[in-house]
Amino acid sequence: MEFHEIYLLYRHELDRVERLLDERAHADHADLARAGRTLLEAGGKRIRPLFALICGLGEREWSLDVAKIAAALEMIHMATLVHDDVIDRADLRRGKPTVRKSYGNLAAMYTGDYLFARAIQLLAEVDNLEVHRLMARGIVLLCEGEIEQIEDFYNWSQGVMTYLRRIHRKTALLISLSCQLGAMVGGASAREVAALARFGHAVGMAFQIVDDLLDFTGAAEIVGKPVGGDLRQGNLTLPALLAASRPGIGERLRDLVREGMREEEAEEAIRLIVSSGALEDAERFAERYLEKARLLLQGVSREAVREQLMGLTSFILRRQY
Ligand code: IPE
Ligand code: IPE
Ligand code: MG
Ligand code: MG
Repeated sequence: MEFHEIYLLYRHELDRVERLLDERAHADHADLARAGRTLLEAGGKRIRPLFALICGLGEREWSLDVAKIAAALEMIHMATLVHDDVIDRADLRRGKPTVRKSYGNLAAMYTGDYLFARAIQLLAEVDNLEVHRLMARGIVLLCEGEIEQIEDFYNWSQGVMTYLRRIHRKTALLISLSCQLGAMVGGASAREVAALARFGHAVGMAFQIVDDLLDFTGAAEIVGKPVGGDLRQGNLTLPALLAASRPGIGERLRDLVREGMREEEAEEAIRLIVSSGALEDAERFAERYLEKARLLLQGVSREAVREQLMGLTSFILRRQY
């Protein structure tokens, strides 16, 4: 099943989630309202709400609780993006100027906090203690992931395991939660909820690896955010770490990519990584995670859910945005 077909299948539910987002991300304060609205209207793939809806509804009837979970997940995601763009000093997000670009870093910090708070407020309407416990834990780990990333800028002594641990926290967890909480609130069996949580984790790992690949290979007009920035700011992602483990290349990369590197040095480093074959190796990591995700789907009893989730796994590897 193709990505757009799955989208179409859930268009009414996604519209309802959109209305919830619109309503709940609303702020009385003019700058907050404008900042939130720009980000919302700029779009985004809404992949987390979609996972929550698929896992929570499947062929079932509409559930307001599942929609609230889906909207809260997207708001938490948006909050992390607003903060992430401050950390990454990024000017473009979803094809539009970032909140920090339009209103400054200070405004971006409280816009992010505001979105977090609104997400928690919405979530509080869902009467399920386990949901709150898991979501709170997820946000804590996500923050730790982002902090570890800052600490590890330019740190060439980190290995692939450190990278995987970081993306587990900063990205895979929220995608895993989208599947897990959707399923839980939608009334799936404990076994199925567990299988979907593991599925979401594997998909989330692949999702971030592909995002990191797009930073090397993508076009800003298509991805809607700056490309080539990870290495320039010292964020050593999988392609860089894999290239660095190759004899002859590692030393040169360490010389080039350090604090205060010049633009020509960054460009040479990127060329070195691309020509080393590390992008292809990183892609194989993503493929392996997606294979694992597909295997985990065997633990899901509803055929339609399996098929739709299978469709999304293929999209993730091929995506250009
Ligand atoms: C971007 O997430 C941040 C990552 C975790 C890689 P998405 O690629 O889901 O961003 P939007 O929501 O579609 O803009
Ligand atoms: C994911 O990392 C960010 C979050 C989990 C918030 P990136 O820094 O790679 O995300 P993009 O590329 O800016 O969307
Ligand atoms: Mg970023
Ligand atoms: Mg990125």
